[in-house]
Amino acid sequence: MEKTLSIVKPDGVKKNLIGEVIKRFEQQGLRIAALKMLKMSKDDAKGFYIIHKERPFYESLTGFMTEGPIVVMVVEGENAISKVRETMGATNPKDTAPGTIRADFASDIEHNIVHGSDSKESASYEIPYFFSSIEIH
Ligand code: RTP
Ligand code: MG
Repeated sequence: MEKTLSIVKPDGVKKNLIGEVIKRFEQQGLRIAALKMLKMSKDDAKGFYIIHKERPFYESLTGFMTEGPIVVMVVEGENAISKVRETMGATNPKDTAPGTIRADFASDIEHNIVHGSDSKESASYEIPYFFSSIEIH
């Protein structure tokens, strides 16, 4: 069993896609082990995406991620990290397979509805960023 961190980003919340994202994960046989809504500060977003701090899109990304509330969740299941990433689709909706969340709903490479940890190492940084052990079931 593997755990991963997923986020319905501010654009996904604004487009009323919280339920849609959760439904697609559950349809893959994945289980929601923790869930909450919150609004990140700029420092929260900078810390969360610290891995991208040298990238040209870091400033814009951390601005976007603080525009409105997000829904953060821990998703559990066999191969949860890759299953969530497959369900999301590629970063740029133009490059991604039809039927993925991003192909169906993302407006561009930045406003792409959903986040998912990209490795075990990322998941082990990202899950405790938002959840304490007593919040994960
Ligand atoms: P995420 O971390 O959110 O799950 O997305 P990802 O792995 O598919 O993509 P990543 O390379 O980690 O980038 C993180 C987020 O930054 C925004 N981005 N903007 N303007 C750009 O060229 C650009 N590239 C990435 C996206 O919101 C992307 O999901
Ligand atoms: Mg990423």
